[in-house]
Amino acid sequence: SALIDIAVIAGDGIGPEVTAEAVKVLKKVTASEGLSLKLTDYLLGAEHWLATGETLSEETIQALRGHDAILFGAVGAAPGDTSIPSGLIEREMLLKLRFSLDHYVNLRPSFLYDGVASPLAHPGTIDFLVVREGTEGPYVGNGGVLRKGTPHEVATEVSVNTAFGVERIVRDGFRRANERPRKKLTYVHKHNVLVYAGHLWKRTIEAIATEYPEVSVDYLHVDAAMIFLVTDPARFDVIVTDNLFGDIITDLAAAVTGGIGLAASGNINMDRTAPSMFEPVHGSAPDIAGKQKADPSAAILSAALLLEHLGHVGAASRIKAAVASDIAMRNSASPRATSVVGDAIAQAL
Ligand code: NAD
Ligand code: IPM
Ligand code: MN
Repeated sequence: SALIDIAVIAGDGIGPEVTAEAVKVLKKVTASEGLSLKLTDYLLGAEHWLATGETLSEETIQALRGHDAILFGAVGAAPGDTSIPSGLIEREMLLKLRFSLDHYVNLRPSFLYDGVASPLAHPGTIDFLVVREGTEGPYVGNGGVLRKGTPHEVATEVSVNTAFGVERIVRDGFRRANERPRKKLTYVHKHNVLVYAGHLWKRTIEAIATEYPEVSVDYLHVDAAMIFLVTDPARFDVIVTDNLFGDIITDLAAAVTGGIGLAASGNINMDRTAPSMFEPVHGSAPDIAGKQKADPSAAILSAALLLEHLGHVGAASRIKAAVASDIAMRNSASPRATSVVGDAIAQAL
């Protein structure tokens, strides 16, 4: 039978709690589909750094390259934790993985499930896909500081946008929009202020639009896009945007669809030159870590995206249906422990 070889990076905080449930569901669905599953745990994250000094070595990256895909939990210390430099693990481990493995499509679906209370009074149908660029923008760390610590300090963060990088993400956005019934692509930027990158995006969109005559194209400045995300989220089908805007948009998108505990994502290398990585949109949630309070749905749905990416579409659909049916039966008055939710979803498969 087909072998699925997955590296598991559970990480910090609620990462191990929600990943355990995703693994539980993966084991059950693969067994019943006659697929063999091989899981290899990688100890990485803040605890691992404190114990060993490793953020992410070249050897570990090489080892990760040998797997079909990576299932990722979350990393990062609590804000105010002084035992670890702020953002060290996020940059030197998580972002380093996204960059090293060329995860240029950061795919973040947004869907309002039946039975979920959106904080919006009139949410309408919410079913859109954010195609966030994953390897460029301000995330490349191309910044610097002059005269540090003086009253004349100058700090810069440079957003890097290449024709190559913008073209491949825009193309991916059009391709995905073209496959959906509504065939609508909204590109979000701020080209009224961010002139150079904004116009590279604009020109790229205009050029590739000619290859997809059936896709309707809409542009919104990112600030106005946030108005519509709250007042009329149904207007969105596929959003294509840069790395930083995509980060911010997808936390708001998670909030309007009933919570960060439901939002899944894939960091995808569409050329398949390295394994793709699947993770919840949320972080390590230090405020609830270790208490079995985290919702594992986002991690479980990320495992479904992983299976989908590897071509196991049937198994992925079964997970999504199981999560949807579990969500429909939820009762906010009696919250369940993380592992109880995982059990229920595994059962619903
Ligand atoms: P966060 O997403 O960890 O938490 C924000 C809020 O959402 C918290 O109140 C948390 O309890 C809640 N929450 C998150 N996941 C939840 C879940 N599954 N179920 C229920 N509630 C959930 O964001 P933050 O507090 O800004 O960041 C905490 C740490 O995580 C920081 O170190 C940050 O850098 C890191 N981070 C990592 C990732 C990642 O690994 N991909 C993503 C975001 C943040
Ligand atoms: C996310 C996170 C990361 C990001 C951080 C932790 C580097 O917020 O996955 O959304 O900004 O991409
Ligand atoms: Mn984020």
